[in-house]
Amino acid sequence: MADVFVTRELPGDAVGRLALEHTVRVWPGPTPPARAQLLAAVSEVEGLLCLLTERVDAELLEAAPRLRAVANLAVGVDNIDLGECERRGIAVGNTPDVLVEATADLAFGLLLAAARGIPGASADVRAGRWRTWEPRGWLGQAVARQTLGILGPGQIGTAGACRAAGVGRKVIATGREESPEGSRLVMAMGGDARAGATATIRAVPLRALLERSDFVSLHCPLTDATRGLIGRPELAAMRETAILVNTARGEIVEADALRQALVDGAIAGAALDVTDPEPLAPEHPLLEAPNLLVTPHIGSATHQAREAMADLAVENLREALAGRPMPNGV
Ligand code: DGY
Repeated sequence: MADVFVTRELPGDAVGRLALEHTVRVWPGPTPPARAQLLAAVSEVEGLLCLLTERVDAELLEAAPRLRAVANLAVGVDNIDLGECERRGIAVGNTPDVLVEATADLAFGLLLAAARGIPGASADVRAGRWRTWEPRGWLGQAVARQTLGILGPGQIGTAGACRAAGVGRKVIATGREESPEGSRLVMAMGGDARAGATATIRAVPLRALLERSDFVSLHCPLTDATRGLIGRPELAAMRETAILVNTARGEIVEADALRQALVDGAIAGAALDVTDPEPLAPEHPLLEAPNLLVTPHIGSATHQAREAMADLAVENLREALAGRPMPNGV
């Protein structure tokens, strides 16, 4: 029986299963523990189930001398210093696959909502601005038969491509392959079949993707190579009618450059499920930009996906604490 700290209450019964085998302490309430509280909470634990809101770095690992396993309730592990964990022999796991469709759905929903100005139109109804059927009112961008550019055509990007292909859109993508020799542009990509849908994705360099796409959707992980990847020059390369969708990580886009691009009309709009910082305070300057839609990092927020994520995270911990490899080790 090991001591385990879970940094938030989770949906489903996965944590209950963990508590049958281990001494589990769950941080109560909807907000994360403050840093000092987190460091104190991990001082005796062997297992940690954490979220993307917790930074698992050298300082935390130093404060947790007995720690053997870290299970992240996310597919992204940019909140974890993997090198430090490896150096200390601490297993790290994530929750891939189960959130792919939910996140692709949200990216597609954001794209549609931004293209057609749905949140603004809905707000106008409530504000009494719906006076008549207006031939020139509430005009948005067409979605069918446009070009979707996917930056990071992994599982979620490919699932997004299938949704786009369903409305007759051409899909182009820019991906990078990491190897010990460095990272290189992947130029040959096929289609993928998912839920009966297929998409043929043509690979192009980033610059061409930005210039040719009506919608640019970000799906790459946050790494040193992708931090700030979409800045002033990249936004300037996009079409004036284009819409940027980000369901990956906020830090991939330079917030100030995006605000300026929206103010200048360099692009037609942006729909973000992730921001830098998170949460975005209501008074943050980015929120003053026009044609901007922001949701509070809800890509994986379906009952099904979140319960499945909790199941995977708990399985990762149970296996590692039993001395076996994590089923979804990073
Ligand atoms: C992830 O899994 O990385 C998402 O951002 C949260 O579901």
